[in-house]
Amino acid sequence: MSAARACFVAVALAVTAAASADPPRGKKPVVAFVPTPQDVVEKMLDAAKVTKADVVADLGCGDGRIVVTAAKAYGCKAVGYDLDRECVKRARAAVERAGVGTLVRIEEADLLDVDLSGVTVVTLFVGTTLNAKLVPRLEKMKPGSRVVSHFFPIPGVKPDAVLKVASREDDAERAVYVYALPLTRDQAEQR
Ligand SMILES: C[S@@+](CC[C@H](N)C(=O)[O-])C[C@H]1O[C@@H](n2cnc3c(N)ncnc32)[C@H](O)[C@@H]1O
Repeated sequence: MSAARACFVAVALAVTAAASADPPRGKKPVVAFVPTPQDVVEKMLDAAKVTKADVVADLGCGDGRIVVTAAKAYGCKAVGYDLDRECVKRARAAVERAGVGTLVRIEEADLLDVDLSGVTVVTLFVGTTLNAKLVPRLEKMKPGSRVVSHFFPIPGVKPDAVLKVASREDDAERAVYVYALPLTRDQAEQR
């Protein structure tokens, strides 16, 4: 990824509060909607080795592209969570357009509140602060489950793989971090 593009994504995610009308219990998304390019979505799901038996959750699902792609490509169940009502609306419309309503549901919820005990693959593109806060929830997933994060690592956790993924959409290369449960704490980062 070019320095300018990387800077744009980081600033967009870290600083911009997404405009949103009346989220539940007054909660607001703390990072804005920036979509993962479709070819990167496909590589993330491939890196997670998704199968029909998986349940994929995209935490901060934006327009629903990851959960829709998971259901279409692998026939698995998937759930997308977002706090931004406009995103929830768009994601639900995308699910309907793709005809995957029996496999995919979209919920208006804070990603920090969701129960991940029945989920086997989590996808993320929400920044390191939220990634770090999610660790106690991610750790409740069953052994063998996978977490794939676009662009941002999970602080203090050692990835099983870091892929460099180029997108045809913007000619940019970005990192995709892949983790398997149980998560491995990064001793070097703890010091
Ligand atoms: C960078 S976008 C990623 C969208 C999608 N996952 C993708 O990769 O294309 C981040 C999304 O997270 C949502 N979000 C931010 N904070 C959230 C929170 N606390 N709970 C739920 N969704 C949140 C935003 O509304 C936005 O749609």
